[in-house]
Amino acid sequence: MNTSVIAQVAYLVSAILFVSGIKQLSSPATARSGNARASVAMLLAIAVTLLDNEILDWATVAAAVVAGAVVGGVLARTIRMTAMPQLVAVFNGFGGGASAAVAAAEFVRLGASGPGPGTGVTIVLSTLIGGVTFSGSLIAFGKLQGIVTGKPVTFPLQKALNALLFLGVLLVGAWLALVGIGTGDHSWFAPIAVDIGHGFFVALVAGALVLGVLLVIPIGGADMPVVVSLLNSYSGLAAAATGFVLGNMMLIIAGSLVGAAGLILTQLMCKAMNRSLGNVAFGAFGTDGPALAAKTGERPVRDVDAEQAAMVLAYAGSVAVVPGYGLAVAQAQHELKKVCDLLEERGVRVRFGVHPVAGRMPGHMNVLLAEADVSYDKLLDLDDINAEFDTTDVVLVVGANDVVNPAARDPDSVIAGMPILDVDKARTVIVMKRSLSPGFAGIDNDLFYMENTLMFFGDARQQMSELVKEVREA
Ligand code: TAP
Repeated sequence: MNTSVIAQVAYLVSAILFVSGIKQLSSPATARSGNARASVAMLLAIAVTLLDNEILDWATVAAAVVAGAVVGGVLARTIRMTAMPQLVAVFNGFGGGASAAVAAAEFVRLGASGPGPGTGVTIVLSTLIGGVTFSGSLIAFGKLQGIVTGKPVTFPLQKALNALLFLGVLLVGAWLALVGIGTGDHSWFAPIAVDIGHGFFVALVAGALVLGVLLVIPIGGADMPVVVSLLNSYSGLAAAATGFVLGNMMLIIAGSLVGAAGLILTQLMCKAMNRSLGNVAFGAFGTDGPALAAKTGERPVRDVDAEQAAMVLAYAGSVAVVPGYGLAVAQAQHELKKVCDLLEERGVRVRFGVHPVAGRMPGHMNVLLAEADVSYDKLLDLDDINAEFDTTDVVLVVGANDVVNPAARDPDSVIAGMPILDVDKARTVIVMKRSLSPGFAGIDNDLFYMENTLMFFGDARQQMSELVKEVREA
């Protein structure tokens, strides 16, 4: 067997490992092994590419691998769970940037004597999508990290300007793809095309970078997970286009997988919020809603301290826990687990209701609960837990707000139609949060003022520690 056949077989094995690894990621029980499988696939793909293309400067390759592994390893070990979306944003940005850089290098190498317009199209696509992904991801990172304002940045004629820029970039790209790259040495047009082509290529890169910024700034900070997922999909498409540029089958397969997976995840998130992708991208969601927010605090609520909350929980027959973003902020998952263990020791039936967009990234709550060793079989999804609330004694809502807001049932609400956890149907609801302030959607929550709701104010971690003591003594 010659080396090229061996390389193709190794690529096929990598592709199978990628696909089966992704399949395993769909269940918490197999996710770790799926991750490991996909990592092995990536290592195999990189090794085969290096060997097959006889990239001989092994010192540079080794230095890059070591540097990348150290940075990646340290980041993976030290990153806080709540900062994961911005880490993914940076990864996407670098992925898109790398694809654009490879395409640019290929443009410089081919100039006007390349193999023809086919490659021109893929170089342009890779540069355009990679550039948008790079700058868009950096803005998403800045918003999530608090470096750039998390509020939607809007100005008059913004959409028209974006559309115009997009059209301009497309026209420049079309010219480059069809005329400016790979027109052949013999074309009378070639010398002019080279000069104009270089200028147009710089314009294409600059246009893509500006477009990335303009597309992300009007989106609110809390919608960033959806944007990050979409940009993840773009980074995959850019990589797939680069795969066509280089004629590398593995890059085409891996890029297409990332592109498809990112798009599916984006759709799932939009569905769980009952919002269209257009609404996320252009709705400027997350601007202040003064009329609704002003209602906060005007109505009486019933509040309890740790001792009272413990009594209600300890003497219940069944308890459902609903975690939300506040649990992640407070890092209260370990104390929560202790409370649940104590309740179970007393014979209380405990389970967890996890909303698909609770927190700020897909699977946020699952990861937190897994960190605290909560068994997967106690985690119920939206439909399953909703079927149980009317026979549940107590629901303990920990730092969740929008995902339990009955306003979603009101057709006039901004979150109208968003599937919610119907916690208000339980006999008693204890809501643990610091104040009556709204969640990400910026709207008041009627749940706090209902007759069967008890507000347990305070930081979730501190209050959960108090609860551990009180349930123990109950
Ligand atoms: P939110 O509605 O954002 O509410 C979180 C609540 O946590 C806040 O009201 C806050 O109230 C409380 N909190 C913050 N820090 C706390 C602390 N230290 N201790 C106790 N409570 C604390 O969260 P949710 O219910 O999880 O809903 C998620 C929202 O994000 C939804 O609107 C969803 O559409 C949106 N979103 C999610 C995703 C993904 S993928 N998860 C993607 C895009 C958008 P206090 O300030 O009063 O404490």
